[in-house]
Amino acid sequence: MSVKEGWRAFFDGHAPFYMQNVFTRNTLAEVEFLVGELHLTPGTRLLDLGCGTGRHSVELARRRCRVVGVDLSRGMLRQAQAAAHAAGVSVDWIQADATRFVAPMSFDAAICLCEGSFGLAGDGEDPIAHDAAIARNLARCLRPGARLILTALNGLRLLRQHGAEDIAAGAFDPATLTERHPMEWESDTGNREVVVCEHGFRPEELRALFEDAGFAIEHIGGGTAGNWGFRPLDPEEYEIMLIAVQTERAP
Ligand SMILES: C[S@@+](CC[C@H](N)C(=O)[O-])C[C@H]1O[C@@H](n2cnc3c(N)ncnc32)[C@H](O)[C@@H]1O
Repeated sequence: MSVKEGWRAFFDGHAPFYMQNVFTRNTLAEVEFLVGELHLTPGTRLLDLGCGTGRHSVELARRRCRVVGVDLSRGMLRQAQAAAHAAGVSVDWIQADATRFVAPMSFDAAICLCEGSFGLAGDGEDPIAHDAAIARNLARCLRPGARLILTALNGLRLLRQHGAEDIAAGAFDPATLTERHPMEWESDTGNREVVVCEHGFRPEELRALFEDAGFAIEHIGGGTAGNWGFRPLDPEEYEIMLIAVQTERAP
């Protein structure tokens, strides 16, 4: 199995059940937050990187944004297509790896939410290089002045969660704040399992990564799905939110 196969296989299998996850329940409130903070208006060209089942893309297309949704998993994209069809909206769906994606146009805004590729390295892949590639790609896809909202795993929580045993067992790397663990799902051919990695971030690491990629950082704070807003990061919360603006000096 190639390093990318793990997450792809998991999300292909999980796709029909993804919208049952509790963290997807506040999508409409999240969309209102995105509209305000990204200054979205009809006609805005928006990139949804790691769009999953398109829960944000479809709502933003309803608000007449021109949305491109990119995801690694065909299973997730199939759900997204069905959701767009049911809502009567048009979104361009592209199956691609976010670390290599080449944008078909320059975007006015981007979202990369709920570990939408960011932080989800394959087993054996360098988690830092993986996420640096995505940050650079986001900068390349955006026009200067365009805004980005991204949520990523909170590495402070991972540090508090994992002790010496996990480190010795190779289940947690304290140098990169990366967990390595199995993910299971049911398939037509029985239960399946893949080993995947999840990379958490300290706020200053996130800042440095996106500044290096060519963004000016406007905000970093708590941003767990279903509970977005402007507040300092609670070390125990699940996700960090970053709001940034693409600068002229993006490489
Ligand atoms: C937890 S889901 C988040 C989906 C959506 N952004 C949301 O907020 O519901 C993570 C998504 O990232 C996608 N993904 C994982 N690795 C990726 C990669 N390298 N390139 C593109 N998408 C990827 C998965 O297929 C999955 O749909």
